[in-house]
This record gives sequence, C-alpha cells and structure tokens, in this order.
Amino acid sequence: MTTGSIETKPMSTEPLILWETDGHVGIVRLNRPKVLNALNPQLMTQLAEQMEAFDAEKEIHVILLAGSERAFAAGADIGDMAERSMLQMYERDQFATWDRIRRIKKPIVAAVSGYALGGGCELMMMCDVVIASETTQIGQPEINIGVMPGAGGTQRLTRAVGKATAMDVILTGRFLTAAEALAAGLVSRVVPPEHFFSEALNIAQALAAKGPIALRLAKEAVLKAFETTLAQGLEHERKLFYMLFGTQDQKEGMRAFVEKRKPHFKGE
Ligand code: CAA
Repeated sequence: MTTGSIETKPMSTEPLILWETDGHVGIVRLNRPKVLNALNPQLMTQLAEQMEAFDAEKEIHVILLAGSERAFAAGADIGDMAERSMLQMYERDQFATWDRIRRIKKPIVAAVSGYALGGGCELMMMCDVVIASETTQIGQPEINIGVMPGAGGTQRLTRAVGKATAMDVILTGRFLTAAEALAAGLVSRVVPPEHFFSEALNIAQALAAKGPIALRLAKEAVLKAFETTLAQGLEHERKLFYMLFGTQDQKEGMRAFVEKRKPHFKGE
C-alpha cells in the first residue's frame, strides 16, 4: 500500500487531504476534522489534483472518497467566505475547481458518515456510488446563512430526488436521515456506522475487479442521462457499447463466461 499527503502552507501544518492506494483503489480522505471537513478552496484544489492523478494512473481503477465518521463534510468553509464581496467571489470563481472533479472518468465511491451538508452534499452528489452510514445527515442548509447552494445543489439534488423533496430540503434547510436519503434515491446503500468505510472499500474493490474501460464508459453513459434527451442518451449508450467490442476485456469477459471461468481484465 502506498500512502501520502499533500502539505499545506502557511494556513496549517496538517495536510488537508490524505491519500493511499489499496490494490487498484485510490483512496482520498478529507482531513480537516476540527471544522468537520469544511471545504476551503485549498482543500478542493488538492482534492482535484489527487483525483486527477488517480484518474491518470493506469493501475488505479476506482477512486474512494471518504470523510470521517462524524462528518463527510459540513459544507464550503463559511469563515473563508463570510466577508467576501460579490466581485471577490465572482473573480475567485471557487467552484471552477469542482468542475475538475466532475470530469474524473473513473468511478468514485463515496464513504459517507455524519454530516454531508451544503458543499458536502454537493461533493457527495458528484460521486458515483454513495455508501452512507446510518448516522448520515444530508442537507443543503445554505438558506440559514443567507445564501443558496452554489456547487450544483439545486441542479443535482433536484435531478436525484425530484422537485418536491429538493424544494423541501433547499428552502427549509432541513436534514434528511440516511433512511430518507436511501428512499429518495440520493444514496446507494446504508450500512451501520462502524462499517461505513470498510463497506465502501469492499464495494470499491469489487468494482476494481471489473473491466476498467467498461467501468469508465458505463459511468459516462449514466451521467449522460442527466445531460441529454432520451434519444441522445440512447444513441450515446449504443456507441459506447459498440466501442467496448474494440477492447481485449470484452473478449476476455465473454470468453470467460462461455468457458465457465473467472475473467481477468487488463484494461486493454
Ligand atoms: N465552515 C466552516 N466551519 C465549519 C463549518 C463550515 N461549513 N461547519 C462546521 N464548522 C466548524 C464550526 O465553526 C466549529 O468550529 P469551532 O470549534 O472552531 O467553533 C466546528 O466546525 C464544529 O462545529 P459545531 O461546533 O457547530 O458542531 P455541531 O455538532 O454543534 O454542529 C453542524 C454541526 C450542524 C454541522 C454545524 O457546524 C453547522 O451548521 N455547520 C454549517 C453547515 C452549513 O451551513 N453548511 C453550508 C455551508 S455554505 C456552502 O456549502 C455553499 C455551497 O453551496 C458550496
């Protein structure tokens, strides 16, 4: 296993994120426990850099993003934004970094526990498979501090759970429980708090054993469903499906099925 951290200066001597690899899984942990992993621009830049590094590394097939048991992330860093003017916010364009995470091609599994609020919820929604602990509380409470979601909350939450629940969550600022989030289709699975990380890692490992090219293209196709008409999405899906017949992994996967053995995918 390889581990590491990205140092930050001069704001803190603690690394803002920690990373390690476990087989074909690249793990990134948010590491601002004192402020419940509040997402400041420095952290988001480092997170985007590390995710891009994993995306470019052939040996990594899946990325696992985790917070702590108490908080996945309690939102964008309020202290960092409180006194900024409209012009400063506009010129800084802090959410541009988030677009870099949106462009990650490999599947991202999220290990979520405790608070996933504001930008924390928005970051969670940019992940692909969300494993949530029973203690998870999910919300977009920006309305309580005089603003609104700014990193995709009004768009992704509405697409995930529909207008009625999105309006409830965004306009009242109330938190959804893990059970509510599961019923609404906002998280993939709910597990006991003591297992949230190990379960997410198990699922990431299970994905990592599949054909990496098929994984990436399947992610791309599902995300298209949120951005195109049905006709365009179906067309795109079909092309990606045919494309996979140009890979060794397709031959290996189908031959292994016919020969009644386990496939060994190489990402080629
Ligand atoms: N930014 C900065 N610091 C934060 C933070 C945030 N989003 N959330 C929590 N913290 C800090 C607190 O200020 C506190 O620091 P101190 O110990 O130095 O006082 C520490 O984390 C622990 O928090 P609490 O003492 O408040 O812990 P709690 O258990 O009583 O409450 C909480 C937890 C309900 C999450 C509460 O901290 C809270 O409401 N946080 C803010 C949530 C929020 O409004 N998020 C949206 C931010 S805006 C945004 O995200 C915009 C966007 O679209 C990207």
